[in-house]
Amino acid sequence: MLQNNDRNWVDSVIGKITAKLDTVSEKSKHKIPYTTVNGTHDDKATQNVSGFDADGICWWTNGFWGGMLWLMYHETGNGKYKEIANRSEELLDKCFQDFYGLHHDVGFMWLPTSVANYKVTKNPDSRKRALHAANLLAGRFNLAGGFIRAWNDLDEGDTRGWAIIDCMFNIPLLYWATEETGDPRFKQIAMRHADTVMSSFVRPDGSVHHIVEFDPFNGGVVRTFGGQGYADGSSWTRGQTWALYGFMMSYIHTGKEEYLQTAKRIAHYFMANIPEDGVIPLDFRQPAEPKLEDDTAAAIAACGLIEIAKAVGELERELYLNAALKLLRALDERSDWSDENDCIIQRGSEAYHKPRNQHHHAIIYGDYYFMEAMFKLKGNDLYLW
Ligand code: GLY
Repeated sequence: MLQNNDRNWVDSVIGKITAKLDTVSEKSKHKIPYTTVNGTHDDKATQNVSGFDADGICWWTNGFWGGMLWLMYHETGNGKYKEIANRSEELLDKCFQDFYGLHHDVGFMWLPTSVANYKVTKNPDSRKRALHAANLLAGRFNLAGGFIRAWNDLDEGDTRGWAIIDCMFNIPLLYWATEETGDPRFKQIAMRHADTVMSSFVRPDGSVHHIVEFDPFNGGVVRTFGGQGYADGSSWTRGQTWALYGFMMSYIHTGKEEYLQTAKRIAHYFMANIPEDGVIPLDFRQPAEPKLEDDTAAAIAACGLIEIAKAVGELERELYLNAALKLLRALDERSDWSDENDCIIQRGSEAYHKPRNQHHHAIIYGDYYFMEAMFKLKGNDLYLW
C-alpha cells in the first residue's frame, strides 16, 4: 500500500515508538495514565473518586493504556507488556462494583483491555469481563428512540434522551459479543443505534452533531447540542473522527454498504477541511482566534482513513491514504520523542468551553490512536475494535 519513502518513514517512527514505550511502560507500570503532569504520567487508578462521578478508576479513557500495551505486545512479543496490561485490566474490576460511575463508554474501557486480552490469550476472565460490559451497554438501549443512552444524569439535569457521536466506538463491544456468543441481540442493538446516528447525527454535508437529544418515551429528535465543540451547528473535530472511524467499525463488523458510504461522506468533509499544515483545529467552525488545536482528532482520523483505504478499490485508495499520511507526518513532527515526557502526542484538547476547556496537553488516546495508525500502515496491526 505504501511507497518506499513512506515505508522507511513508518519503520523509523515505529522504532521511536518501541524505544519510548520500552522506557515509559516500566515507569508507569502501576498506573492507568490519562495525561501528564510536568511530563510525568498521572494515575487515574489512584484518584480517589467513585460513585456517580465517572472519574478516577471509572474514567472513560482507562482502557487506552492497556490497549497501548497490547499493541506493543503484539509488535514485540515482550511478555512485560502483557503483564502490565493484565494488571491495568484487573484494576478496572472496581468499576463493575461501583456501577454508578459506568455509562456508555464501557466499550472504550473494555475493548482495548479485556477483548484485546481475550483475542490474544483466550483468558476466560477477560471474556467474562467483556461480556459483562457488553450487557451493561445493551441495557442502555432506548427502544422508542432506537439509540443507546450516553451518560447518566449530569449536574445540569436530565439526560435520559441523550445520545452522543462518541458511542460509535462503544458499539463494537456489542458486535464482538454477538460474534463471541452467537446471540444476535447485541448486534441488533448496535445496528439500530448506528442507523439512528446515520439519520439523526450526520448532516447532508458530511459533518456531524456531537449530542442529539431524543424523546425517551416516544422517540424523535428533540434538539441538538454543540457539546465539546464551539456551538450548536459547529463541527467538533474529534466528534467528526468518532463518526468517520466509527462507521468504518460498523462496516467492518456488518458489511452493511451504507456504513461504508457514510464513513466516506464524513471523510470527504473532513479531508476538505484539513489545513495546509495538516494540524487539525479543535472545531472546524471555531473563530480564527484563539487558534485551538486537537492532535487527538488527527490521530483518530488517520486510523479511519486508513481503514477506508483498505476497504475501497485501487482507484480510490490513494486519496484516503495520502490524507492519513499528511496527518501522521504532521503528528510525528509535533511529538515529544524524548525521555523527558511520558506521552508522545502533546497537543490534545478536551472541549472548547468550560469546565473541560483544557487545551494543548497530552491525552492518552492521542498516543493510542497514533500508535494504532502507524501499526496499520506497517500492515500487521492488532485490530481491537
Ligand atoms: N468521548 C469524550 C471525548 O472525546 O472527549
